[in-house]
Amino acid sequence: MSDQQQPTAGAAGRVPSNKFVYVAAAFAALGGLLFGYDTGVISGALIFIQKTFALSTIHQEWVVAVVLIGACVGALSGGRFADRFGRRSMLIFTAIIFIAGALICAASTDVTMLIVGRAIVGLGIGFASSTVPLYISEVSPAGARGWQVSLFQFAITVGILAAYLVDYGFAASGGWRWMLGLAVVPGAALGLGMLVLPESPRWNAQKGNIEKARSVLVKVRGTQNVEAELREIEATLAQAHERGRLSDLWRPEVRLAMVIGIGLAIFQQVTGINTVIYYAPKIIQSAGIPSASGAILATAGIGLVNVVMTVVSMWLIDRVGRRPLLLVGIAGMVASLAVLGYAFYSPTHGHSLATITVVTLMCYVAMFAISLGPIFWLLIAEIYPLKIRGAAEGVAAGANWAANFVVTFTFLTMLDIIGAAWSFWLFAVLAVAAWIFSFALVPETKGRTLEEIEASWRVKKGAA
Ligand code: BGC
Repeated sequence: MSDQQQPTAGAAGRVPSNKFVYVAAAFAALGGLLFGYDTGVISGALIFIQKTFALSTIHQEWVVAVVLIGACVGALSGGRFADRFGRRSMLIFTAIIFIAGALICAASTDVTMLIVGRAIVGLGIGFASSTVPLYISEVSPAGARGWQVSLFQFAITVGILAAYLVDYGFAASGGWRWMLGLAVVPGAALGLGMLVLPESPRWNAQKGNIEKARSVLVKVRGTQNVEAELREIEATLAQAHERGRLSDLWRPEVRLAMVIGIGLAIFQQVTGINTVIYYAPKIIQSAGIPSASGAILATAGIGLVNVVMTVVSMWLIDRVGRRPLLLVGIAGMVASLAVLGYAFYSPTHGHSLATITVVTLMCYVAMFAISLGPIFWLLIAEIYPLKIRGAAEGVAAGANWAANFVVTFTFLTMLDIIGAAWSFWLFAVLAVAAWIFSFALVPETKGRTLEEIEASWRVKKGAA
C-alpha cells in the first residue's frame, strides 16, 4: 500500500519556521537526553552499586530490568494522559518524575530504595517517549517536522554518549551516586523550559480552545497569518470519527497505522540495537580486545558514530524523505549484521576479528542511526489522527519498550546457546523482515501537514 505519490505541502508546510519553535523543540527534546542517559548510565554504575549493597545476580537484573518495565507502563499510560491533560502539562509532570527518580536513586540506602528509584526513572522515560515526539510534531511546521522531531533521537544518542563519559569519569572514584544523580540537571531544565513554553496548538484546538490555538500558532510561526493552518486543523477535527476512546485505536481507518507503529516498534528492537548499546564492551572483548579500557574506548567510539549519523539523518530527512532513508538504512543493517555473524563464524581470531567487529558494529549503528532510530519515533508522532494521537503513540512506544525488554533479557542466554555468529544472523533475518515490512507498508510523510496525513488514511479507507 506504500504511498509513493509526491506529497503536496499543505498550509503549514509553506509557513517559514520561526526561532521560537526551535527553542520549544530543543527543550522538549531534553526528555530524550534523559531517556538516553538513564538507560545508558547503569552499565557503568552497576559494578560499584554491587560493591556498596553486595547485590545478588537477581538484584542486579532487577536494577536494570525495572527501568524497562517502568518505561513500558509509562509509555502506555503517558500517551493517554497527554491526550487528556495536554502535552505540556505531561512534560512538566515528566520532569518532576525524572528529578524525583534521580534523587531517590542517588540517596538510596538499600537495594529496595534503589529499585523503587529506578522504577520511577523508568516511568519518566516512558512518559517522555510517548509525549516528546508528539509535542514537537504538533508545534513544528510540516517542512521542518522531520528534523525537529528527530531532535528527540539526537538527544537520546547524546544522552547515551554522555552516560558512557560520565561513567568513565567517575569510574576511578566509584561515584555511582553521582552517575545516577546527575540526571537531575537535564530534568530540571526540561521542567523549567516547559513552564515557559506554550501548550501544543493542535491539542488546544482539539479541546475546543481555538483562540489559544491561534495565539500559540502566531507565536511558534512568527506571523499573524495562521488562519489557513488553523482552518485545516478545525476541518480535520470536524471530519474525525474518533471520540478519544481506546476502542478507537482499532477503527478501520486507524488499524493500518497501528500495525505500522507497532510493527516498526518491534522491528526497531528485534534487529538488535540495544544488544550493541548495552553490551558493546562484552561483544568487543569476546572478539579479542582483552583490556576493559580498550573495550570501553571502542564503545565510546560507537556512541559517537551514533550521534554523528543521527545528525546526518536529520539533515536528510526533510530533503530525501522518510522512506528512502529507512530502506537504505535497514539494508545497511542487514549487510553489517551478516558480516558481523561471519566474522564470529570464521576461524579468524585475535586482532583482525577485533578490528572487523568494531568497524562492522560502527557501520551497523550508523545505519540504524539514519533509519530505524529516528524514523520510528518520527512516524509514530505523525501518522495518527489528532483525537487519539497520544494514546496511539503510547501503544507503539509501549510495544517498543516491551520488545526492548525481551531482547535485552534474552541476548546473553541466546549467546550462550547459539553463539555470537548465529545470534547476529538471526538479527539479520529479522532486519530483512523489517525491510519488507517497511517497503510494503510505511507511507512517505515528508512535507505533508499532520492534517493531510490524517485525511489520507480516511481516503484510503474510503477507496478500500
Ligand atoms: C531506541 C533505543 C536505543 C537508541 C539508540 C532509540 O531509538 O528506541 O532503544 O537505545 O535508539 O540510539
